[in-house]
Amino acid sequence: MEEALEKIFSNFEGKREEVIPILQNVQEKFTYLPEKAMSEIAGFTHVPESNVYAVATFYAQFRFTPRGRNHVMVCRGTACHVNGANRILEEIESQLGIKEGETAEDLEYSLETVACIGACSLAPCVMINKEVEAKLTKKKVAQLFGSEN
Ligand code: FES
Repeated sequence: MEEALEKIFSNFEGKREEVIPILQNVQEKFTYLPEKAMSEIAGFTHVPESNVYAVATFYAQFRFTPRGRNHVMVCRGTACHVNGANRILEEIESQLGIKEGETAEDLEYSLETVACIGACSLAPCVMINKEVEAKLTKKKVAQLFGSEN
């Protein structure tokens, strides 16, 4: 991690106004903001660590847990909700063995819910990385993630 951080820092001067772009770079590299990186950023920019955390928690784009290699976003928008999004979420949670907001220990999957992924006529749907999986049923979920693979 040390080396990767140094590489990122080498593109900056260490000014306090660089905190956000540095956080963005670090997240892009690691998929999240590791604790160690937060203290290094504080040291590099001479901003108290608590302030670096305050900035990072203020913006929804930043995360403190790693993303899985496959990032699953279950749509909870109205159309999906009325078509059983909760059932689909429960089924995915049980197939993957993780809850919403979590990442599997082996980093294979991470799971989140989102407001709407713009495919309402195909509800209920989820997005796996950049692919939309539409009109989901329990059976389809099992085919996608688990026992029926
Ligand atoms: S509500 Fe799910 S895609 Fe729009």
